[in-house]
Amino acid sequence: MSEIRFDGRVAVITGAGRGLGRSHALLLGSKGAKVVVNDMGGAVDGTGGGAKSPAEEVAAEIKAAGGEAVADYNGVHTPEGAKGIIETATKAFGKVDILINNAGILRDVTFIKMTDEQWDGVLKVHLYGSYYVTKAAWPIMRENNYGRIVMTTSAAGLYGNFGQTNYSTAKLALVGFMNSLKAEGAKFNIMVNTIAPGAVSRMTESIMPKEVLDLMVPELVSPMVALMCSEDFKESGHIMAAGAGHFAKAQIVESKGVYFNPKSKVTPEDIQGKLQDIVNMEGAVTPPNAMDGVGKFFKKG
Ligand code: NAI
Repeated sequence: MSEIRFDGRVAVITGAGRGLGRSHALLLGSKGAKVVVNDMGGAVDGTGGGAKSPAEEVAAEIKAAGGEAVADYNGVHTPEGAKGIIETATKAFGKVDILINNAGILRDVTFIKMTDEQWDGVLKVHLYGSYYVTKAAWPIMRENNYGRIVMTTSAAGLYGNFGQTNYSTAKLALVGFMNSLKAEGAKFNIMVNTIAPGAVSRMTESIMPKEVLDLMVPELVSPMVALMCSEDFKESGHIMAAGAGHFAKAQIVESKGVYFNPKSKVTPEDIQGKLQDIVNMEGAVTPPNAMDGVGKFFKKG
């Protein structure tokens, strides 16, 4: 197996001053990528931004190891900030080949107590931030007929988590974003995939026991991200889970289901009578796109 390298490739990694983003940046930088280390600083809830040191330190680390990197301090959560991040890439390195949408914040609180500000703030960074930066990078990738984009989802989005309705909503929305974007990127050699990471960081250090956290190093997530950013990875639409040495694929599937005659009346009781068959997940499939998903309504058998 040949070594995966990123020589000549320009990678933008958002929220790369700490945690997972830092680890992705160091790995890609060590494999020849020119890295834009974006991070606006700030606390885990997104307040108090403006610290330059996280991005600066990671860029310095990449350079000290013989790589190429530039720090960027823009916030992903505004269109202007996102454009600024991509401009940093084009000014320093002339293009963008790889985008890892990783920046994130938490504002955990039960739904009953959640304020609009806590809801909006989390959606702004995770969902709008990924949208704004992707929007700014997209024309460049199309023009160059090359792009590798990785969204960052979460088990909280895929499966739910108490006290995280804002975060779960934003994180699963990124899967929907990927699903449609992959179709638009295909003919331009732009692959769009998603990581569902599990790693110790300031986001998770207070909610998991130490013996678990000791195994959950960000360096056990980044290799999967790097693979999805590589030239040879010619697939789109994967949700890959990675954490503590475990790698897996997550998928939205639909059961084979049950067909009633569409020209006859169907009652709730008819459905109740067939419920066990409807929810039987044996032979469940993922339609490649919405049209195929809807189209199967008309295919009996
Ligand atoms: P972290 O808090 O260590 O790193 C996130 C970085 O994003 C911080 O350095 C922060 O300054 C930066 N950031 C926040 N808002 C920003 C903005 N508006 N613009 C630019 N940078 C901004 O957290 P961690 O754990 O490394 O998280 C990275 C990503 O992985 C996040 O999207 C998070 O939701 C996701 N994730 C992490 C999991 C974990 O187990 N650590 C689990 C599932 C998802």
